[in-house]
Amino acid sequence: MAADPASALVLALETSCDETAAAVLRGGVLLASEVASQIAIHAQYGGVVPEVASRNHLRALKPVIAGALAVAGVRMEEIAAFAATCGPGLASSLMIGTSVAKALAVARRKPYLAINHLEGHLLSPFFGTAEGVRPAVALVVSGGHTLLVEIEAFGKYRLLGQTQDDAAGEAFDKVGKLLGLPYPGGPNVNLRAQGGDVTRCEFPRSMIDSGDLNFSFSGLKTSVRYLLPKLGSISLPDVCASFQEAVVDVLVAKTLSATQITRRRLVAVSGGVSCNTRLREKLHAACAAGGLELLIAKPTLCTDNAAMIGYVASLQLSCGHASSLTSDIDPNLRLATC
Ligand code: KG4
Ligand code: ZN
Repeated sequence: MAADPASALVLALETSCDETAAAVLRGGVLLASEVASQIAIHAQYGGVVPEVASRNHLRALKPVIAGALAVAGVRMEEIAAFAATCGPGLASSLMIGTSVAKALAVARRKPYLAINHLEGHLLSPFFGTAEGVRPAVALVVSGGHTLLVEIEAFGKYRLLGQTQDDAAGEAFDKVGKLLGLPYPGGPNVNLRAQGGDVTRCEFPRSMIDSGDLNFSFSGLKTSVRYLLPKLGSISLPDVCASFQEAVVDVLVAKTLSATQITRRRLVAVSGGVSCNTRLREKLHAACAAGGLELLIAKPTLCTDNAAMIGYVASLQLSCGHASSLTSDIDPNLRLATC
């Protein structure tokens, strides 16, 4: 007999990049979310090495799952459905999480749910709210993606715009590297930007007046590269603050335009870059000035985690969905939009 989705226990796995994560949810309520970060391992290479990432997922997944079950206080036998990120991400990393979730599902004759990582980020601002998923303009800003999406309801999404080249997080990471900061660049640029002068360097706000809702960040990264020879005369906090301001200005302006175009009054923001303190500050100010409601994912749900994967899995389970055990990973998976 199928478990009641209202009380079903879900074990969700996330291994799309360099975080090994497991979460346990009961009826869509989070009981445990464990993340084993590989940042220290990849920092020595200045970025994620796919082969190294998958080997470490293999090593870390079993203790991370055991940790999540222990924190949740449940036994594996009680899990009613197994979910894993099936894309987008690194192929060899995605294989680990999906293979383990499928194996557990087969062994225990329970449903398997293949979850889109982007939908996990997209819906993470709603996780834990009383109302659940609501119509909104959503900004997803991560290391791999920069998307503006209109959410009508769970599973009903319209792509409004996306980056034409680098993702916002990718720009932060590349600029961090150019400036000699440790990996990942995003949080380190954010940290060094504190106290810096946002007007010190004139960086472009690419595509801010393009009339559409697309983004471009590669020109901005090139502008920072051209500035490198002058770095002796400009302080690092000033460069970081000016660069960060340029990224944030474009993200905020395009998000506001999206609310005007769609007439949505709720802005939902997610993905690793939504941890950025300046982005949060400017979004709060802009939304307050425009009379818009703002929901930003909790910091623990911004960067990669399995709780957001479990949330989407729980919503799918409530709709009676399950995935085929023969479903494959898709490193280039897109958000299903209408
Ligand atoms: O969502 P996420 O963990 O992974 C992807 O799905 O890509 O996002 C990671 C990205 C990295 O590029 C990282 O540098 C960026 O989020 N990031 C930040 C901050 N914290 C993480 N970027 C700017 N400011 C931050 N505070
Ligand atoms: Zn992510």
